[in-house]
Amino acid sequence: KNISPTIIVIFGATGDLAKRKLFPAFQNLFLDGRLDEKFKIIALGRAEKSDDEFRSYVVENLNTFSRRTANCDERTQEFISHISYLRHDIDKEESYYQLDSKLKDIDAGFGERANRLFYLSITPSFITTISAYMKKIGLAANEKQDRIIIEKPFGYDKTSAIALNEMLSQTFKEEQIYRIDHYLGKETVQNILAFRFGNSMFEPLWSRNFIDFVQITVAEEVGVEERGGFYEGVGALKDMIQNHLLQILCMTAMEAPASLRADDIRNRKADVLKSIRRIKPDEVDHYIVRGQYDAGFIKGNPVPGYRQDKGIAPDSNTETYVAMKIYLDNWRWQGIPFYLRTGKRMEEKQSSIIIQFKPVPHSSFSYGKEGMTPNRLIINIQPAMDIKLQFMTKKPGLSLSLRPAEMVFDYFSCSTMSPEAYETLIGDALAGDPTLFMRWDQVEEAWDAIETIQQVWKNTPPTNFPNYKAGSWGPEEADELLARQGHKWVSNT
Ligand code: BG6
Repeated sequence: KNISPTIIVIFGATGDLAKRKLFPAFQNLFLDGRLDEKFKIIALGRAEKSDDEFRSYVVENLNTFSRRTANCDERTQEFISHISYLRHDIDKEESYYQLDSKLKDIDAGFGERANRLFYLSITPSFITTISAYMKKIGLAANEKQDRIIIEKPFGYDKTSAIALNEMLSQTFKEEQIYRIDHYLGKETVQNILAFRFGNSMFEPLWSRNFIDFVQITVAEEVGVEERGGFYEGVGALKDMIQNHLLQILCMTAMEAPASLRADDIRNRKADVLKSIRRIKPDEVDHYIVRGQYDAGFIKGNPVPGYRQDKGIAPDSNTETYVAMKIYLDNWRWQGIPFYLRTGKRMEEKQSSIIIQFKPVPHSSFSYGKEGMTPNRLIINIQPAMDIKLQFMTKKPGLSLSLRPAEMVFDYFSCSTMSPEAYETLIGDALAGDPTLFMRWDQVEEAWDAIETIQQVWKNTPPTNFPNYKAGSWGPEEADELLARQGHKWVSNT
């Protein structure tokens, strides 16, 4: 719980992320008493706006995007009164001096130097400029009190990430830098740790000895929406695999941490990233499939192809889908494939982890028409939030034949009001807990793990784009990737 006076400075406060996620997160932290009464938000943006104009814009968006609106009106009004707007030009030094004097005025009003949390909700190319001015003017000079949150992607490849980090480290200590991956704030992602290390019965099975393969899916129904300009230069590998999916992989495959302290957990996660087998350039096609959506139907409604979407080049080769097979070179997982896939405009929104166990060594049973189903553990991250254990039971009747059954834990049955990922993460950053944020070595390893793929793809543009229909489960090659090993993509239901 953060009980210190705090000033939150949001760069890019008029942007999409701020409106959908950040202001609702701050509002809910306030309503839950996780912000000190002495707190202020300084919203920075390029346009000229009065405080009142900006505040009504925030209220309007809270009504659309916050998980809480109706009953909290009075308190929400109180929350809003803590927000002020400041016109800011990222390239102009005087803007930073204005910010400096605003910060000092607020400190004077509080009667003490408040903690400062700088939230960079802007494209990565601005980070260098902002950080350089912050250093020059000493905006975040207090190592103990000042923190910075940086959105992903952190750089666009390993080399640029290293350069960015070196530059940032001239202004901030590692302890001050909070690199956000919002998937780590999701309740069900955190629950993976609880499930694995809070129970004794699954862990002994959690290895190459009993597991056949692991499948991690993050599928979205949405396309690129209003973000075409950003997405064109990024693509699914950098937008989703390098961060969200590799982080879920870490949670699934990591060893038990010595304690729940931030670095103990992050050390074990970094081990997973280090053990990802690096592939050679001529193996890229064997292990990875890329795709781009064509026009199709989502839940019966026609949608255009990626190349027809707003802000997208008509001959774009940006991938909107990736499926890959990963091996972890360590004792626990040697030889076990981890299949990762993510895509936009897929048949349905679904994030899940499926652990498929090895078949029984010998079976004398006969089976119903479904046949023998492998034992599976299914962890649904979103929108379904549940854990299912699938196993075989006797089919009721005279003969001794089997049929599949399942046990289910549904997250909604014990909680109706989970905090949003951004709420959890911002709350942690305010409280100085970096456990759910990415330490530099994790980011670097994650870039390293995909570097060869990035290079090969850059040098060999795809010849078959678009290669999957909107509303499908991706290109056929993704099925072949698993079929080579006698596996299939498994449904999460
Ligand atoms: C973001 C990506 O990090 O995650 C987006 O940049 C993606 O492209 C989003 O749509 C998915 O997040 P969520 O929480 O909706 O699954």
